[in-house]
Amino acid sequence: MKVLVTSPLPVNAALELEKAGIETQTGSGKMSKREIMESAKSVDGIISLLSDSIDAEVIDSAPNLKVVANYAVGFDNIDVKHAASKGIYVTNTPDVLTDATADLAFSLLLSCARRIPEADRYVREGNFKGWRPDEMLGSDVAGKTLGIFGFGRIGRAVAKRASGFSMRIIYTDSAGQDFPDAEQVDFETLLKVSDFISLNASLNPSNQRAFTMREFEKMKRSAILVNTARGKLINEEDLAKALENRIIKAAGLDVYEFEPEINERLKKLDNVILAPHMGSATVETRVKMAEICIKSVKDVLIKNRRPDSCVNLW
Ligand code: DGY
Repeated sequence: MKVLVTSPLPVNAALELEKAGIETQTGSGKMSKREIMESAKSVDGIISLLSDSIDAEVIDSAPNLKVVANYAVGFDNIDVKHAASKGIYVTNTPDVLTDATADLAFSLLLSCARRIPEADRYVREGNFKGWRPDEMLGSDVAGKTLGIFGFGRIGRAVAKRASGFSMRIIYTDSAGQDFPDAEQVDFETLLKVSDFISLNASLNPSNQRAFTMREFEKMKRSAILVNTARGKLINEEDLAKALENRIIKAAGLDVYEFEPEINERLKKLDNVILAPHMGSATVETRVKMAEICIKSVKDVLIKNRRPDSCVNLW
């Protein structure tokens, strides 16, 4: 039995899988689709990154494939339906990265509100000459309204943090009844009344580019947008225009529409914070994510059972 691990991981996956009698091939972390297809010809399993496209063509190039374990909670890089039609399990890494990702979302929210990266640059450039009543003024967070787009595990974890900061929480999904301090509203209301909007939805065909100039124009001019979910939820060119023209106040971004490319206009702006898709990037979390992927592969290939975090076959 053989598994392709497309990138080295924080846990030695090759060692762990080989202990179970599974041969492994470890890729560079930057494998092209052609390279993945070439290796896929002879493998029973793949541990993939969110940047690897495991589409129908890749799946069809792997006649023995039984499991794709994605090293991420999101799995929009995989054609899960096509995999299901061929009886191939697709798994993700839920729960273990919820807190780390919510921490990053809230860090970006606070950093935008209080202009932390801009203040750091200001001090390093020698501009701090002593306390002034009007220097580096930001926005309050307490008492403000946070709109959460995507009220799943990570959205709720962001809400939990926001409650501790005395924010009012609103959301659009229908599944928030078990979060009594939050109020369900429609999308237009969320746009209109939120002081901060945090995107925490998983990407699907119905929410691609849910945020365009039309939505930015409905938001408050003082609004701050945070995206730690997927870049394709936003039309990035429109966002750059909205930030340049102060149609909204600021944005904190961890993910990008054409990742790893980032709109050049965004890079020039002081009112946007740019992070390198690091929501789950804590040592503890990344280790747990690797352990889940290894277990999923072993469950399918050794124990011949449905893996716990399977997203496509019931
Ligand atoms: C995910 O898991 O989907 C994050 O975007 C990366 O950890």
